[in-house]
Amino acid sequence: MVLEDPKREAPSPNAAVKPANETRTGAKNTGARQSIIYLDGQFLPDSEAKVSVFDHGLLYGDGIFEGIRFYNGRVFRLEEHLNRLWDSARSICLEIPMSKKEMTEALLETIRRNEMQDGYIRQIVTRGVGNLGLNPLQCKKPSVIVIVAKIALYPEEVYRHGLTVITCATRRMNAAALNPAVKSLNYLNNVMARIEANLAGADEALMLNDAGNVAECTADNVFIIKKGQIFTPPITAGALRGITRSVAFDAAIELGYPTKEADITRHDVFTADECFLTGTAAEVIPVIKADGRSIGTGKPGPITARIIARFRELTRETGTAIYS
Ligand SMILES: Cc1ncc(COP(=O)(O)O)c(C=O)c1O
Repeated sequence: MVLEDPKREAPSPNAAVKPANETRTGAKNTGARQSIIYLDGQFLPDSEAKVSVFDHGLLYGDGIFEGIRFYNGRVFRLEEHLNRLWDSARSICLEIPMSKKEMTEALLETIRRNEMQDGYIRQIVTRGVGNLGLNPLQCKKPSVIVIVAKIALYPEEVYRHGLTVITCATRRMNAAALNPAVKSLNYLNNVMARIEANLAGADEALMLNDAGNVAECTADNVFIIKKGQIFTPPITAGALRGITRSVAFDAAIELGYPTKEADITRHDVFTADECFLTGTAAEVIPVIKADGRSIGTGKPGPITARIIARFRELTRETGTAIYS
């Protein structure tokens, strides 16, 4: 794949999440039809899908979530997302009130009811309704929510031209405070970093850990390429065990590039030949500038392009069938 020359523009807009009804296959954009949300065993139109103001997910960010994509009528890497959701739950002593099989069916059925082939799923488990005290013992029943939407994090040209990133002052949370491996509803750490990127006019923010090494971006894992070798920070650096990260990792190995986890400093990013980010929402996306320094040639690199191409093939060809 040949990438076009980068043309810098204003920072990309924030994620545009459109309700499923605007983009449902065959649906007329009349605004009449609402998206269908799964909420605690019921499939409800979005205007009726409500949770209590006493839910600790709202009051304390006490809960967990996953963001999953489906392509071409198939859910991509569903099992890995469910496993990570269950691991997050285990870590915060939250019992998901259904089996993985039931969760899978709830999720697939939500997509079916929205009659979509391609889109994004937000799966949420909150601690449930309690009182104003933070003690989770107050919350007797966790709530399970599945939202289906279209998500377009960046316009297509950004995948060809690349992103700019800044290093933000907000550090990625120390694992001893709240382990970044838990995909919890408490994302203020990431939101603060995102605000810094916005204020700096950058597309994304590199978050460092307490040691000063690169952990990840606000909702993406980071990869750099130097002399044909690919590096990404280890999970112990404060990176989420990203599912797209593991897809990119496997793709890189399959394409014959030596790939390994290693601590990465800002210097390594500045002096890399190529850099890219991975995440379910952003997919695989090149980075061409960090803190004002052009990375490599200042254009998305050829190895990144090959990984993007392989990633796209996998999303088209693999996954859990929704309609059969
Ligand atoms: C903080 C953070 N890092 C990395 C990622 C990328 O992970 P994945 O590829 O599983 O979406 C995400 C998104 O889920 C995230 O929220």
